Parts: sequence; C-alpha cells; structure tokens
Amino acid sequence: MTKPVLPAEVAASVIDPVAYGRWDPLHEQLAWARANAPLAVAENDGYDPFWLVTRHADIMAISRDPQRFASSLRPTAVTNRDAEALARTATPNNDGHLVRSMVQMDAPDHMKYRLLTQSWFMPKNLRIVEERIRQIARDAVERMLESGGEIDFAHDVAAYYPLRVIMDILGVPPQDEPRMLMLTQQLFGPTDPELNRSRETIRSAEQAIAMIQYVIADFENYFRELTADRRANPREDIATVIANAMVGGEQIPDRELAGYYMIIATAGHDTTSASTAGAIMELAKNPALFERFRDADSDKSGLIEEAIRWTTPVQHFMRSATEDVEIGGQTIIAGDWLMLNYVSANRDESVFNDPFVFDPDREKNKHIAFGFGAHMCLGQHLARMEMRIMMEELLPRLKSIELAGEPARVESAFVGGLKRLPIRFTAA
Ligand code: HEM
Repeated sequence: MTKPVLPAEVAASVIDPVAYGRWDPLHEQLAWARANAPLAVAENDGYDPFWLVTRHADIMAISRDPQRFASSLRPTAVTNRDAEALARTATPNNDGHLVRSMVQMDAPDHMKYRLLTQSWFMPKNLRIVEERIRQIARDAVERMLESGGEIDFAHDVAAYYPLRVIMDILGVPPQDEPRMLMLTQQLFGPTDPELNRSRETIRSAEQAIAMIQYVIADFENYFRELTADRRANPREDIATVIANAMVGGEQIPDRELAGYYMIIATAGHDTTSASTAGAIMELAKNPALFERFRDADSDKSGLIEEAIRWTTPVQHFMRSATEDVEIGGQTIIAGDWLMLNYVSANRDESVFNDPFVFDPDREKNKHIAFGFGAHMCLGQHLARMEMRIMMEELLPRLKSIELAGEPARVESAFVGGLKRLPIRFTAA
C-alpha cells in the first residue's frame, strides 16, 4: 500500500524552528493535517522521512506501546540525516544519543533508571519541599514588584523561578544557576540565534553537533565535581540520590550518570517557565480572567491545566517502530520513524471543544503535554505545583496586568515557549 505523503510546506514546517516561533500559521497547517492526513509521511531534503502523527488518539495509542514504538533506536527529537550520522560516530555503540538519559532508554533499562528518583517526584514527597518552593516564588514576586511597573515576565521572572526550584531540589547552589540556564537554553534551543552560544544562526550539522558537544562537556565537568562531593558528603537532595544510586548492583556508569543529571536539570525548567509565562500572557490579555484568579481563594487548577495544554512546551517527541503495526488506518513498517506532535494533539477538535479558546473551565482537560505511558513526564506533579504556587503568590499581589509590547517565542521545534513577554502591572 502506498503511504500518504504530506504537502511539502507542511512537512517543512513541522521541522522548522522558525515555524514554531511564529506558532499561528503552524497551527493552521497542523489542523489541516488532522483533518486530511492525520498519519502521513513528511519528506524533507536532508532528513529521513518520518510519519507525522497529529491526532490525539493516535499519539496515545503509540505512547501506550513502548515495545513497538521505541525511544532508544533513533534520536528522540527530530534530527537531520547528517547530524544523526555524526552523532552516531561520536557515541558508544554508535547509538547516536549524545545524552543518554531515561528518555532515550527502553525496557529493561528505562524503568531501572526511572525508579531511582520516581518517588522523589510524587505528590507525597513534594509536600516536603512545598514551603521551600513557596519561598523561592515569594522572592521572585518581591523582585518583580520592586522592579517598577514594567518587566519582561518571560525573561526576568518565568525563566528563573523554575530554574531555582529544580536546582534547589537537585542540590546546585544559586551562584551556579546562570551557567545552568545558559547551558539548558543552548541544549534545547541551539537553533534560535538569540539563545545559542555563538549568537548566529546554526546552519550545518557539524556546527550543531559541535555546539551540543561543547554544552554537554560543560555539564559533565560540572556534575563530575558534584558527584564526588555527594559521594563523600551525602545530603537531602537529588544529586545525592543520583550520585549514590546502584543499577544492577553497580554505580551508574559515567555516561548515564551525566545523562541523569542533565535530564533532571534541563527537563525541569524551560518547560515549566514556558507554561508559567503562557498563563500570565493569557491573564494579561483577559482582565476578567485576571480578576477571577487574583482572588486568593480561587481554585487555580483549571487555569494551570489549561495553560499547560495551551502552551504545550514540549512540542514533539520521536519514536521508532520495532515491528510492523497498523495504526490510524496506516501500516507502519519496522524501522519507521514517527513524530508525536503534541502541539497538534492538544488542539485536536475531536477531544477539545473550541480547542483554540483558552478555557480554564474545561471539564476534563485531557491534554497530553506531559506525554503518556511509560515515559510520561516524571516531573508533572512538580510542574503543576510550581505553577500553582507562583499563581498563589503573584496574582493577589497585583491590581492590574497588561501586555506592554509584542511577545516572542523561542525558535525551536523541540522545547518552545515565550522568550519575551513584556507586561505592565500595578501592585495591589
Ligand atoms: C518526560 C513534558 C516538566 C522531568 C516528559 C515528556 C514530556 C514532558 C512530553 C515525555 C517524554 C517522552 O515521551 O519521551 C513536560 C512539560 C513540563 C515538564 C510540558 C512542564 C510544564 C518537568 C519537570 C521535570 C521533568 C518540572 C522535573 C525534573 C521529566 C523527566 C522525563 C520527562 C525526567 C523523562 C521520563 C521518562 O522518560 O520516563 N516531560 N515536562 N519534566 N520529564 Fe517532563
């Protein structure tokens, strides 16, 4: 059977960082794909063809089946052919994963690694750190109020608060945070000329790989010292859990150790920054919503869930088929590569009424911004808790809030969100 092929412009957009930076035209193309070609092949020069999966139901079905849709075989974020080949030459067993964390693992390794820290991220344990997180939020709010009536909320507040939280939980001291922030943004957003190390648009695979390797080497150096310290002086932080963890009766190998720190350090903040800034943007645009949620007694859970759906900070993940499978009426062949496009799934008209309306009162918000199945976000409860605490601390302290300029999004096809959100506010 012939495979349906996407129109060239749709195929080009779903891998184009600039398209994710512009956002609205991309949404139109994804809506077209959901209606006309929900499982179709994207062919782009320089890239291996992949299935673009745009419907919520198909992404759920694939995510439920990690045995047949693996994470370890190919890059988990879309990568061009040259970059993948270069990464393979630069990695053990030619596996191509410059960073090997639980995200890039399948059974049986995946669960062994995930379980090492899973209990840390469960709501019961998070209650222990709630007060510390609240203090970090209060400090961020104080700084914001002191800054006067205008601020770039994305850059000056949202970028730092989740970073401080995850670094505190991990055990990285505040003076090292700017380095961590820069490294994360370079790792996730090396395609955005405003964020990458050389401040230039990255064009070649060699450039991209060299930049990522440089960033990884920086992370590794930093965490090597942290590991040595936590083995000698254990504390109540995640670094101590990771540094002393045993898998199969042995300490974690260096590569997986570095991968573990990196996934916790990186997955935990740019994402939550994006959903937090997105919530504030919607409140700044809608005074009635702002009035409702600045009431200290208002329940913030609908606002938070909707902001996570609305922003979908992790825009896609890739999977590779391990055997032939029928899905969504198409036959996927062993070895095929698939893009789970969460941006699309979270605007799926068959799941969400008026998906392009920001509605904190959705009855059941079945968004899949945290993925689904075995790899479902380990930090989802932490992310929600951080957002709730920020809203609880910030909103009652404000009398008004409005946009004070054009917001701008990061140019990245992987983790994205607002990089600029100029707002004007008055304190309550
Ligand atoms: C996995 C999204 C916040 C840690 C994931 C996945 C998504 C996601 C979509 C699935 C990966 C896959 O299927 O391969 C988000 C979003 C966040 C967020 C949208 C904020 C709004 C956090 C936080 C942490 C975190 C605060 C804290 C450390 C992780 C880890 C994984 C993961 C460790 C890998 C889980 C695994 O492979 O088993 N996240 N995340 N995330 N996330 Fe998050």
